[in-house]
Amino acid sequence: MVRLELSSKSVKSVPADAVVLGAAPAAGSGGGSGAGAPVLLGGEDLPRATRSALTRALADLGADGAAGSVHLLPQVEGVQAPLVAVVGVGEQPADPEALRRAAGAAVRALAGRRRVALALPAPDAATAGAIAEGAALGAYAFTRYRAAARGPVEQVVLLVAKPRDKALRAALERARVVGEAVAVARDLVNTAPGDLAPADLADAARDLARGTGLSVRVLTETELAEGGYGGILGVGQGSSRPPRLVVVEHAPKGAKVHLALVGKGITFDSGGLSLKPPAGMETMKSDMSGAAAVLAAVKAVADLDLPVRVTGWLAVAENMPSGTAIRPSDVLTMHGGTTVEVLNTDAEGRLVLGDALVAATAEQPDRVVDVATLTGAQVVALGNRVSAVMGNDDAFRDEVLAAAERAGEQFWPMPLPQELRASLDSQVADLANIGDRAGGMLVAGLFLREFVGERADGSPVPWAHLDIAGPAFLTSEPHGYTHRGGTGVAVRTLLALAEDLAS
Ligand code: BES
Ligand code: MN
Ligand code: ZN
Repeated sequence: MVRLELSSKSVKSVPADAVVLGAAPAAGSGGGSGAGAPVLLGGEDLPRATRSALTRALADLGADGAAGSVHLLPQVEGVQAPLVAVVGVGEQPADPEALRRAAGAAVRALAGRRRVALALPAPDAATAGAIAEGAALGAYAFTRYRAAARGPVEQVVLLVAKPRDKALRAALERARVVGEAVAVARDLVNTAPGDLAPADLADAARDLARGTGLSVRVLTETELAEGGYGGILGVGQGSSRPPRLVVVEHAPKGAKVHLALVGKGITFDSGGLSLKPPAGMETMKSDMSGAAAVLAAVKAVADLDLPVRVTGWLAVAENMPSGTAIRPSDVLTMHGGTTVEVLNTDAEGRLVLGDALVAATAEQPDRVVDVATLTGAQVVALGNRVSAVMGNDDAFRDEVLAAAERAGEQFWPMPLPQELRASLDSQVADLANIGDRAGGMLVAGLFLREFVGERADGSPVPWAHLDIAGPAFLTSEPHGYTHRGGTGVAVRTLLALAEDLAS
């Protein structure tokens, strides 16, 4: 994990292998090519001559300040560090997320260097925190199976006027916690599915909890059978590696609010007997991204010791075809008694989540959020950068959207049209696990809604459903602070939501 520091040193003389400045498109250029030299951001303490030399160099390179562009300038006169990196921040240079992405892109481009100083403009602690977070997220590499060709940056120094400022230091500590938590989620997702059976994910939760105040409870297949968790057991029964329900809890004394988080933890989704085609399976080690995000978020909440009770429920199973697998038309009895006819074994996420939602809401939390790589339809609707939010309570759904916005994660609200619910009717059971193909993301959300428990007054627990199928795993070019593979999406939104509920 990268080390984050604050320093009041000047860009001129900070000891580092590289210093990072920002660039925004020239005013009125529209950011298009052929625009004038970009505007330098940060490094105001550099001599005039150095700044104009930098600006000229950028113009010669055709740099336009476009978001994510990085230009490396060696041996800049007046700067002691051997390398100046100028990262484009784009059209909204004051937006924290633009700076988070710029810091991430710069730190990614500087992999292989040990110590990097960031001089991006940070007018307040929140902005500094975003920059530090972007840097921490950019300084990542997955090295379980192969050393990184160029190791991630090891030290990041934020150049600020008042390095002892309390709010700044808190923002830096939060950025460290976020960086670490997101790396935990990414590492779990990137791990080969052969090395991450359900029991291994449970062990990972136990390992992570050690030394924190977190409690971990693991239900084995025997306990799942005793508890009537037919969804998790049914999905897991085709695998030689049995399923688990993992409960991770941060329960500080005096907490007034209880947030339940439920994560889909399919360690590999082959589709089961409704087998996926080969191409559709290639990224299905990422089908536990929801569980990974929940686990990482609960860890971050504990690290920051937020005054809110957070219970994470990881519904973990491997979806495999075999002689013991569930068959299309089998009927499962879910935790709580609802029967489900499984018409497609590839619609397995909703089966494990249904069980976990019933268990999570039986504790009467104030809010419940589930996170899942649930549907291909999510990817069709919103692509690989934007996740979906659905729910049974518009006000709570908007709270989740506000938390995501603050965290710098892209989420978009989606409806749960009542008209689609009938398509989930079964000829033989309470529900079928598939319905209308059109609106498949919404149909899946409607299925989950059936498993959200009620409060004492008969009203449902306010619930939000996050479908992260597209954004959870990156197969195309890296961008900003996002690397190829597991992205750790939703960790920051869940943490921000817990913070909002704590305050
Ligand atoms: N894990 C998949 C959804 C998925 C697809 C995630 C692509 C990420 C990328 C899920 O279990 C699934 O297979 N869903 C089916 C449901 C269908 C059979 C109703 C789907 O979306 O095709
Ligand atoms: Mn599936
Ligand atoms: Zn799945």
